[in-house]
Amino acid sequence: MIFHVITIFPDYFSSPLKYGVIAKAISSGKLEVNLVDLRQFTTDKHRTTDDRPYGGGAGMVMIPGPLSKAIESVKKEKTDLEVILFSPAGRLFNHELAQELAKKKELVLICGRYEGVDQRIIDGYVDMELSIGDYVLTGGEPAAIVVIDAIGRLLPSVLGCDQSAKNDSFATGLLEHPQYTRPRTFMDMDVPQVLLEGNHKEIEKWRRRKSLELTAKRRPDLLKKAKLSAKDIEYLKGIGSKKDEKE
Ligand code: ADE
Repeated sequence: MIFHVITIFPDYFSSPLKYGVIAKAISSGKLEVNLVDLRQFTTDKHRTTDDRPYGGGAGMVMIPGPLSKAIESVKKEKTDLEVILFSPAGRLFNHELAQELAKKKELVLICGRYEGVDQRIIDGYVDMELSIGDYVLTGGEPAAIVVIDAIGRLLPSVLGCDQSAKNDSFATGLLEHPQYTRPRTFMDMDVPQVLLEGNHKEIEKWRRRKSLELTAKRRPDLLKKAKLSAKDIEYLKGIGSKKDEKE
């Protein structure tokens, strides 16, 4: 998969792409990140990428000329290329959308700065505006890192089977169960006995229940969409009635 990232700060990306799973995916050719320096498409001696908004108001708006040229430079004759603009007003990024986007061959990620980009760029080129959360960033660059990371790890054979994405929090529709490793006792806290006994059916049952408990406590909204068995529902009812007793 190729990400074409249009940015005025290409150097911003050098460090995050140098480490771990994403660096490996890049060096093995499973993932390519093509950094496109927006300033290379400017025409004036100051290499201007922004201007004051028509109608007045605070802040600056990214001008359409250089953005258009930058997008065209990667688009060329390609038809199966999706153009994404980062914006706090965009569709909220989540695991489901990461899985959907991981199927694409090439994505163009436009990193906005200032007060946003000229609307004609959005109307003329952008397939999807994307937000990574309900807060305002100084620009799209940190959002691009988040999206490249979340999608990159889902690409075929980027994660080894021991790191499989299948059991991720959200992939199952639930938050992931707690994990423990050596030592058996730490700060007077023991690893739950069931994890030490090697009974895989019991371990799976314990993990499922912990996932259900955690999701019910922290993200009850996810339970509405999760695939739940009759047993899961029964267990959740049990948790609910215990909570009611306490209250
Ligand atoms: N640009 C500014 N804030 C953003 C957000 N929350 N998500 C994506 N891009 C942004």
